[in-house]
Amino acid sequence: MPQDVIVALDFPTGAKTLAFLDRFTGRKPYVKIGMELYYAEGPAIVRAIKERGHRIFLDLKLHDIPNTVEKAMRVLSRLDVDMTNVHAAGTVAMMEAALRGLTRPDGTRAVLLAVTQLTSTDEERMRRELLIDADMPSTVAHYARNAKAAGLPGVVCSPLEAALVKEACGPDFLTVTPGIRFADSAADDQRRVMTPARAREGGSDYIVVGRPITAAADPVAAYERCLREFLGA
Ligand code: C5P
Repeated sequence: MPQDVIVALDFPTGAKTLAFLDRFTGRKPYVKIGMELYYAEGPAIVRAIKERGHRIFLDLKLHDIPNTVEKAMRVLSRLDVDMTNVHAAGTVAMMEAALRGLTRPDGTRAVLLAVTQLTSTDEERMRRELLIDADMPSTVAHYARNAKAAGLPGVVCSPLEAALVKEACGPDFLTVTPGIRFADSAADDQRRVMTPARAREGGSDYIVVGRPITAAADPVAAYERCLREFLGA
């Protein structure tokens, strides 16, 4: 199983992002580009970071009608990203369309993940506002099974849900999990957090880590600590 730490580049500008990446003179981290940076800088920032030798998770969480998502994914397929995602709530048909769009003419494509339920959504809101009449674990497992049925290789979920996703979809189904904190660092706005070591034990294949690395006094040391704790190396 691939296992790695993905650093969330939650910066408002390309200049700030590249200055941050300049610090990493040894191992080049796998990085996540989200909506803020992508909408600010566009595809150019993806190309610039790729040219520096980083693997990239483009976290744009597409959710629209299948035809629109397929066409948008076709455009993204021309960027050399390693991983990208959609919302599982868009239905199996939408996830299938996303996979078609993302597949290049030569048959290669980035790893396509589905977001199950956002970690900011709690069960009470899911029931009351989304009218989903089931508990959170069953909903996450169901969405993960839908992603698998659509042909996707994995999901983004809470590290607390990685084990149940593996149970529902098998050990090779990928789990990519944000909401990671060191035992001695602030939770910030994350509610349900796990340490890198506990996330590994719980079945996370990749952990997504933002502020514990980006806001650290020494980001390179924090990244290396994260790798050590997650990979047990
Ligand atoms: O700074 P922090 O480690 O909390 O950053 C986590 C990253 O993972 C952010 O980029 C956030 O948008 C993303 N994320 C999340 N929860 C989700 C999906 C994505 O925290 N359910």
